[in-house]
Amino acid sequence: MKQLTADELRSKYINFFISKGHAQIQGKSLLPENDPTVLFTTAGMHPLVPYLLGQEHPAGKRLTDFQKCIRTCDIDSVGDASHLTFFEMLGNWSLGDYFKEETIKMSFEFLTSKEWLNIPLEKLAVTVFQGEGDIPRDDESAAIWKSLGIPENRIAYLPWIDNWWGPAGTSGPCGPDSEMFYYIGDKPCSDNCKPGCSCGKWLEIWNDVFMQYNKTQEGNYEPLSRKCVDTGMGIERTVTVLNGKASVYDTAIFTPIITAIEQTAAQQGAVPKYTQNEETDRSIRIIADHVRSATFILGDPKAVSPSNVGAGYVLRRLIRRAVRHGRKLTGAELSLCPIAEVVVQQFKGAYPELEQNRAFIISELNKEEAKFMETLQKGEHEFEKLLPNLLKDPRKIMSGRLAFKLYDTYGFPIELTEELAAEQGMTVNRDEFDEAFKKHQELSRSQSGQAFKGGLGDQGEMAVKYHTATHLLHQALRMTLGEHAAQKGSNITAERLRFDFTHDTPMTAEQIKKVEDIVNEQIKKDLPVFMETMGIEEAKAQGAIALFGEKYEAQVKVYTIGNSVKDFFTKEVCGGPHVQRIGLLGVFKIQKEQSSSAGVRRIRAVLE
Ligand code: ALA
Repeated sequence: MKQLTADELRSKYINFFISKGHAQIQGKSLLPENDPTVLFTTAGMHPLVPYLLGQEHPAGKRLTDFQKCIRTCDIDSVGDASHLTFFEMLGNWSLGDYFKEETIKMSFEFLTSKEWLNIPLEKLAVTVFQGEGDIPRDDESAAIWKSLGIPENRIAYLPWIDNWWGPAGTSGPCGPDSEMFYYIGDKPCSDNCKPGCSCGKWLEIWNDVFMQYNKTQEGNYEPLSRKCVDTGMGIERTVTVLNGKASVYDTAIFTPIITAIEQTAAQQGAVPKYTQNEETDRSIRIIADHVRSATFILGDPKAVSPSNVGAGYVLRRLIRRAVRHGRKLTGAELSLCPIAEVVVQQFKGAYPELEQNRAFIISELNKEEAKFMETLQKGEHEFEKLLPNLLKDPRKIMSGRLAFKLYDTYGFPIELTEELAAEQGMTVNRDEFDEAFKKHQELSRSQSGQAFKGGLGDQGEMAVKYHTATHLLHQALRMTLGEHAAQKGSNITAERLRFDFTHDTPMTAEQIKKVEDIVNEQIKKDLPVFMETMGIEEAKAQGAIALFGEKYEAQVKVYTIGNSVKDFFTKEVCGGPHVQRIGLLGVFKIQKEQSSSAGVRRIRAVLE
């Protein structure tokens, strides 16, 4: 059977939706800006939230793209046949244009038409929302599927937990969805075999979300005046299923990466082979997934470096876990760089930024591997210090608490503590360790839960004000320090703005005061904010600031703050949203100016 590659699926999908009047837009960064609620872009719809909430998109009402995504909630399950931390999502959107009928018809055509995926009807089944509370069963979607030839016994009506998409527990646009499933067995096990059947052979490949309600703060669902459609098809999942593979790691998406792992390990004298045994496979999959994710994070135009907070911490975890499994496979250090090189080669066609940032990817991986080796040496040293006391225990059991302390304080992995203990004829109280670890995880989960609160981005009034203040600050910095003071990052909450920019030395008190004065002077003038849509080249020609390394659509939004679009204080290419006049911003105050990383300063400022 001819295999469908990820590249083919990507281009088929985009071409299909272009042929249906959609504009292809650029996928965005993996590290969302101006959204303090999430660390990574987690779905194709994520960068489109402002447009799903009502803003006009410069490219129109019908959009399609492919988007790199990271979801780390299941990071501990990676290593089995299906879990991934990085994936690509294909999507098409209607912003107040078509709704259920056209969406479902297009999905059906793409899946079943000979010209596109050519999936036989008997391999397909769908789910629709079964209804709950005041929200009725989605008979409309079911009827459309039936009219296209999906028989009733291939339609499953499922509850909220399966067939509803939108902000969990907060306000925002949401609605029922309809998911499409592919049968991976030979023949459905009965006439009623459909998604949810105990045979477990129906796998989801695509999700059409019908955003038709706004969930209010009070928890009521009000019909939206401008209904939208958001769909998502996971590339890895779909390629796996359509090629008849049992695991995503068995597809051509991962084969070159796994071969690179085997070859790199062979250079260490080890000869692990994929599909050798369960444990080796697990380590190989973890290395393959984590190196792919780390390469995409480091290869992003807004890359972070490994650190102990936020996205940098996730990156650190991914790299260190890969290193650890490399040690497990080979008994020595397995360099991740040759594996990352293969990832760059493989994906640079769709994501040219990987090639552009290749040197950075490799140097950061090298640095982090070396740092981790140091940590491991420190942990081993600490273990040796504990040893005389440990050996006094006649039962030869090391307490789980102590093992957890090594993990928590020195980042020393439990598996290595167990190895060292075993060398001394001892075991580790794993139950006690697991309990301490679970408590720690619950704590960090509830903290990261905080970070996910809001789901659809913080578009509150204060966040919008801070966003506008960020433009004023950017321009004031350029006027005070010079044009090199360019934006490197921005993070906004309802309480403050944070702005990173290129500048080598700490700002003096006079410079800080000057920047504040410039911003406040503009606020006093109560300048209006103008929004225009134009070509990116035209925007640059008009003097608009565009972010270096950012990918822009052909048509972009430009926000101007000034007396007019010609006589302005600042002009920036930006997705918005912004206030309409700046007089209401209040008094701008810089609270802190500090180093962020080499050659980059960070300002934290408030509006009082
Ligand atoms: N946003 C929907 C999903 O991620 C399409 O499944």
